[in-house]
Amino acid sequence: TDLWHMRGREELVDGVGGVCFVPSVMERWRELQEFQARPDDTLIATFPKAGTSWAIEMVDVVRRGGDISGCLQIPSMMRAPFLELNPPPPFPSGQLHNQPSPRLIKTHLPFHLLPPSFVDQNCKMVYVARNAKDTAVSYFHFHRMNKKLPEPGDWNQFFDSFLTGQVAWGSWFDHVTGWWKEKNNHRILYLFFEDIKEVRERRGGMSPVDRIIEHTSFKNMKQNPMTNFSLLPANIFDQSVSPFMRKGEVGDWKNMFTVAQNERFEKEYRQLMSDRGPSFRMEL
Ligand code: A3P
Repeated sequence: TDLWHMRGREELVDGVGGVCFVPSVMERWRELQEFQARPDDTLIATFPKAGTSWAIEMVDVVRRGGDISGCLQIPSMMRAPFLELNPPPPFPSGQLHNQPSPRLIKTHLPFHLLPPSFVDQNCKMVYVARNAKDTAVSYFHFHRMNKKLPEPGDWNQFFDSFLTGQVAWGSWFDHVTGWWKEKNNHRILYLFFEDIKEVRERRGGMSPVDRIIEHTSFKNMKQNPMTNFSLLPANIFDQSVSPFMRKGEVGDWKNMFTVAQNERFEKEYRQLMSDRGPSFRMEL
């Protein structure tokens, strides 16, 4: 793993119980499952591209009582280390076991593959879900620029991979419904990207909450080197291909989906999502 940042793109492997991962996650699967959560850990859990970094920033600045100074000095990936890639290269000081409590931890794991200690310790968990179409488009662009993920192929190919769950961290459908089913059994706050986006736009003022909203706006997070991932070298995130803070919109999928893709998506969506699962807004 020392050479992780030197390796190129990873292949997708059929990881655990049909959930695909990249090899660098599988290589440390045992260690990951034995991870010792602490009772005051807060877990930020998402399917990739659902607004993970946004949620981290909001939760972190709230934890800091609205004081943004730390958020302007310490990279997000050190304030909330990534559970599956611990430590997050090239920042070994972000190692989770070195973090003082209370820790903020980021994960993309489906609920049923979490290290058991998170449930045993009754940790707080914040899950953010984003509608499938925007998530698919965002994940496609992320694959183009993230040189550690498998080659996405063209949009048509990626669209297929996404629908069939052949992407890293598996099926979006299983992910959002798996967490939904557990939300009342544990300390899980289940949020929607679309709701956060909408609620923020209705505010505007000078209260501490408004300052937090300002700090976590798309514009500010895109400018802040601690949140825009510009500290990662181009052989990991090539932001000239597509910036990490890309658009941050609801409904951008309309610029990408063809009519035929949309019809197929809608059809499969109805089959894969149960009525008792979460319900998403694809536009605001
Ligand atoms: P887009 O690619 O649609 O722009 P993650 O952090 O889970 O990887 O998610 C990244 C997505 O969240 C990107 O979506 C990114 O632009 C969006 N995002 C990050 N911060 C945001 C913010 N403050 N407001 C709105 N969207 C944000």
